[in-house]
Amino acid sequence: MHSSPRPRVWVTRPLFDDIVDRLREHFEVECETLDREWSRAEMAQKLRDKAGAILGVADPVDASVLAHAPLLRAVANRGVGYNNLDVAALSQAGVIATNTPGVLDETVADFTWALMLATARRVTEAERFLRSGQWQGMSFHLMLGGDLHGRTLGILGMGRIGQAVARRAVGFRMPVLYHNRTRLDEATERDCAARHVDRETLLREADFLVLALPMNAQTRHAIGAAELAQMKREAYLINIARGGVVDDAALIEALAARRIAGAGLDVFEREPAVPPAMLALDNVVLTPHIASASLATRRQMASMAVDNLIAALGCGPQAGRPAHVINADSLLARRA
Ligand code: 8YV
Repeated sequence: MHSSPRPRVWVTRPLFDDIVDRLREHFEVECETLDREWSRAEMAQKLRDKAGAILGVADPVDASVLAHAPLLRAVANRGVGYNNLDVAALSQAGVIATNTPGVLDETVADFTWALMLATARRVTEAERFLRSGQWQGMSFHLMLGGDLHGRTLGILGMGRIGQAVARRAVGFRMPVLYHNRTRLDEATERDCAARHVDRETLLREADFLVLALPMNAQTRHAIGAAELAQMKREAYLINIARGGVVDDAALIEALAARRIAGAGLDVFEREPAVPPAMLALDNVVLTPHIASASLATRRQMASMAVDNLIAALGCGPQAGRPAHVINADSLLARRA
């Protein structure tokens, strides 16, 4: 008697070996050993015989991919953002999609403060200056920057990450303003010591404007020329959300013209490409999408994605009940 072949799953990018091994207990696993970008056509080709996949947050799955993936039943993003996924198309195809909320909030919030400090205090610019041998001796006027303490922190998008950023403001004695589609309940506002304001007030009053909102059709270019024009000249823009939330071309213009003081950016519109005009500016700190990149957090994210996929494909202790489903309605049209 033949036992039926085990479902095949694809891990699109290298992951921790010991965590991938947990997939091998249930599935035939194809795990990439090189980190690279995947086009839709390549995704379609790779997924044609797969029941599931662990995806990076830039690996696209939409109707054109799904049309070539008749066996696909679940995709597990190893990240909290999921603008790489066409959620409606996945639901319609009955493919479960999952993400990794919660485990990265504090690590991303830590990094947000690193970007705020580095940007206002010109840390990376100062290091470039020193390493290139330009430091000729103490100068009273060298690398004068902005302060954080006592300035107003503004947060656009007050989900778990925005709240974790806000809670860190106490030590810097920074008043916190936020804007969110839905206002937080009173207890959470108190916990974050944050005051809800309208968007215009936030743009006008923030000395540091932190973007922590998800990327979708409504939030695309939430910060463009008009919004940048409303900000203070001495304000800093910090983006740890998604590149598309900011109009990069408008930001480059504003930074070059010193219409705002500076920016700290971990994400870009066309990653991994960064516009040369952006690279040429000194008043911007640029990092390669690493806000969640502490070892412990990345391991937790990988582990959560693996647990989600195992459960979504009907295996393991949570069989059929993955903990972090993005599209609960996929269960209605579920593939056999
Ligand atoms: C990425 C992220 O997952 O979680 C998200 O939405 O953008 C990041 O944490 C991480 O960079 C790995 O690709």
